[in-house]
Amino acid sequence: MSRIKVAPSILSADFGKMAEAVNNIKNWGADWIHCDVMDGVYVPNITFGMPMVKDLRKYTDMFLDVHLMITEPEKHVGAFCDSGADMVTFHPDASKNPLKALEIIKSKGKLCGVVLNADQPFSVIEPYLDKVDMVLIMTVQAGFGGQSFIEDRLEMVKKVKTIKEEKGYNYLIQLDGGISPQNVALCKNAGMDIAVAGSSVFKATNPSEAVRAMQI
Ligand code: DX5
Ligand code: ZN
Repeated sequence: MSRIKVAPSILSADFGKMAEAVNNIKNWGADWIHCDVMDGVYVPNITFGMPMVKDLRKYTDMFLDVHLMITEPEKHVGAFCDSGADMVTFHPDASKNPLKALEIIKSKGKLCGVVLNADQPFSVIEPYLDKVDMVLIMTVQAGFGGQSFIEDRLEMVKKVKTIKEEKGYNYLIQLDGGISPQNVALCKNAGMDIAVAGSSVFKATNPSEAVRAMQI
């Protein structure tokens, strides 16, 4: 079994010091950078858009994992790819044409994924499993950092992992929301490959130690 990759979420960083934040993430020894894009419509919160991704790209060579929580993502995925995203994930229920969104991302030579919110059934992502590089399973309701981990959601993680093995699919399984050194082993046992972590890294007294503790 390979070790967990840790993707700190810059949603928990100081938005006035983003260049410093991406530099810190590299120095802490993390694997990816997770960028949470929210439009105030699909989710109640608003964060940032493609200009931020484009500017971050100038300051880091790390893998930029862009999680879109926006309506009609098919209209914007291409621009996020052009801005320097390495992977773009979106919520299929927010899209009028999820297959088109996946095709656009692939045509740009980037990795693609679909997201299952914490209160949604498996059927929301099922039609796309043979076409994606990653499935992101939310372990909090999408919209805000700093919420409590929903442990019951690990049943869904196990299901998505079992189906991957049964059908021979290739996607990675990413979990997002309330992940910390305390619950990372549970998540790994359920099938997680990549851990998104906001508060547990940025609010840690020693962020490098927190990152390392999750790279199990
Ligand atoms: C929530 C975001 C998460 C969030 C994670 O909608 O998708 O990526 O930033 O933050 P923590 O780890 O604090 O739950
Ligand atoms: Zn996220």
